[in-house]
Amino acid sequence: MSFSFADPASKALPLHVLRPEEVTDFSAKQSGFASAWIAANGFSGGEGEALLVPGEDGTPAFGLLGYGTDAQRARTRFILSKAAVGLPDGTYRLVANLSESEMETEALGWLLSNYAFRKYVTAKQGNRHLIAPDVGDARRIEAIATGEVLTRDLINTPASDMGPANLEQAMRDLADRHKASVTSWVGPDLLTANFPMIHAVGRAAEGSPRLIELRYGSSGPKLTLVGKGVCFDTGGLNIKPGSSMALMKKDMGGAATVLGLAHMIMALKLPIQLRVLIPAVENSISGNAFRPQDILTSRKGLTVEINNTDAEGRLVLADALTYADEDAADLIVSMATLTGAARVAVGPDLAPFYCDDDAAARALANASQDVADPVWRMPFHAPYEPMIEPGIANLDNAPKGGFAGSITAALFLKRFVDRAPYMHFDIYGWQPSAAPARPKGGVGQGARALLQALPALLDL
Ligand code: BES
Ligand code: MN
Ligand code: ZN
Repeated sequence: MSFSFADPASKALPLHVLRPEEVTDFSAKQSGFASAWIAANGFSGGEGEALLVPGEDGTPAFGLLGYGTDAQRARTRFILSKAAVGLPDGTYRLVANLSESEMETEALGWLLSNYAFRKYVTAKQGNRHLIAPDVGDARRIEAIATGEVLTRDLINTPASDMGPANLEQAMRDLADRHKASVTSWVGPDLLTANFPMIHAVGRAAEGSPRLIELRYGSSGPKLTLVGKGVCFDTGGLNIKPGSSMALMKKDMGGAATVLGLAHMIMALKLPIQLRVLIPAVENSISGNAFRPQDILTSRKGLTVEINNTDAEGRLVLADALTYADEDAADLIVSMATLTGAARVAVGPDLAPFYCDDDAAARALANASQDVADPVWRMPFHAPYEPMIEPGIANLDNAPKGGFAGSITAALFLKRFVDRAPYMHFDIYGWQPSAAPARPKGGVGQGARALLQALPALLDL
């Protein structure tokens, strides 16, 4: 399956994209046969509607896709991909009166509508090809689609095939593809290189914990992406109940999302110095598992009292962020499936992000609108700092009471970044039920918004 556009020279059926108010006019300009067919089939330009209109020989002459009303589009996104799945396999081109950003979003949705996770089954794959639209940047849309597909495949692969070593291999494969370099610290190396909390969280698992670093580019602003790579989160000794553990293969969703974004950046050869840091561990249980009330000393020297071994993400990220901040970056971004509290606050579809720079937050929010990748700003609310200070150590990894759980987790991470501007996303990484261009399963969040905002964030 390719997530690219069809050869522009191939024979393609034109699909006219119509809003409800455009249908009458359009129909009036067609042959009597065609306009009778459109009326008889009740095509009204509503979202998700698709209709093929035959010519006199009975084969399709053209097709119609409903673009829907403003109100319908506000309730979903990738509206044409919803209609496209009703079309037979084949090659199509869009004839549409859409803005450039609308067209880019719809074309991306089309490419992604062919996605299904089929590593373990021989499922029927979507084969609806699209000629690149003449507005918008086709190469960019393809790079984004391919990055998103990487993210989804990584999340969807279960921990039995996506442990820390597999995640490292995936990162090496990505690096090879783009002539980037990878370094890793595995198992006991983490202790000698001073990543004690990554080691503590991951040491009880069969697959060795590790920190994996990818570097790309040698000039331009420095962007460092840090992704939570918890390949499975049992909760550790404060074990999760089965229902809460059910989806925890996706606890490397932050890592998968920053790797998808890294693909987009490298495929587009953006002029930046990119680093990607993934602490990859499994939060598992064994005789040597870290315990509640243990006090860990982080790479930065801050001590952390463990009040819940299930608040593991912030521990592994803390050491990675410390390392990230040792090299003066222009921006550090972390992405993590960090808290259930973020889901209570904004649900599965919105990606909450934290950032102290108002201009950067605005740039990201605007970009998010342009590319239909919804994000929502949350505060690094300093008055809650005492909630992460237990008294017998510098920090508490799991404040009592659970109030403002996503904010206190973000404040915890921020303690490990002193120099660089810092942005943090508390994502879900999972589509709970199928939606246009997004089957149920792993999904990227925030990566496309960030890519779109990079020129503003890094002065490119
Ligand atoms: N990976 C989970 C967070 C999570 C749970 C994300 C469900 C998405 C869906 C994280 O490691 C975790 O367990 N967090 C705890 C923290 C708490 C113990 C302070 C949580 O959110 O309950
Ligand atoms: Mn956990
Ligand atoms: Zn976790």
